[in-house]
Amino acid sequence: MRIVFLGPPGAGKGTQSQRLIQHFRIPHLATGDMLREATRQNTAVGRVAHDYMAAGRLLPDSIIIDLVCRRLKEPDCLNGYLLDGFPRTLPQAEALDRFLTESGSPLDAVLELKVDEDVLLQRLAGRGRDDDRPEVIRQRLIGYREQTKPLVEYYTTQGKLEPIDGMATPDAVFEQICDILDRRRNPSSLT
Ligand code: AP5
Ligand code: MG
Repeated sequence: MRIVFLGPPGAGKGTQSQRLIQHFRIPHLATGDMLREATRQNTAVGRVAHDYMAAGRLLPDSIIIDLVCRRLKEPDCLNGYLLDGFPRTLPQAEALDRFLTESGSPLDAVLELKVDEDVLLQRLAGRGRDDDRPEVIRQRLIGYREQTKPLVEYYTTQGKLEPIDGMATPDAVFEQICDILDRRRNPSSLT
């Protein structure tokens, strides 16, 4: 399975990813986690990432595209992966499409987790990551609306988009996702 998670900060991408990677036994490619690790290790990318993340702003596309495309070439990605937090801009989505076309391995689905903004704010307030301060959350939400939301249309046009009600309990959200992925993998099962 090759899956992309779209959704605003706090939508539950990380929470659902943990369940999906166990269920499908595929690697979890979470750009936020990769960048936080790079920052901890004080690598060149990590040093650049730190200021962007602290401000709730997206890193330049070229850095992220290079990071992800290198990761996608590693052997554990041969049988699929779950992308959490990438792509987040149109240039990132186009770069991913070029990679997928060259490797002859299309995406199975793009899962859009939909959650109302007041609920997102409550969830993030209760979590307490470094970038969960109110002014940074506000900036992350603006970034989502302006730079990432256009991907909904991009993937709808490709016939890949699957909207998910992310307001339900984690178990109910996971159930919805599994039903959708089963239907995509085996379209005749419901007829
Ligand atoms: P990233 O780490 O990807 O953060 P994000 O997208 O802002 O999303 P979060 O991780 O905060 O939310 P989530 O959807 O994973 O929710 P979670 O499951 O944790 O990115 C961080 C930064 O890195 C960016 O701001 C940017 O600077 C940089 N970056 C990353 N990717 C980039 C890219 N491609 N290009 C450029 N820059 C990039 O859940 C949140 C909380 O809600 C948890 O406490 C959880 O327990 C709770 N919860 C989850 N589901 C439910 C539920 N169903 N009901 C009740 N509570 C729930
Ligand atoms: Mg996350």
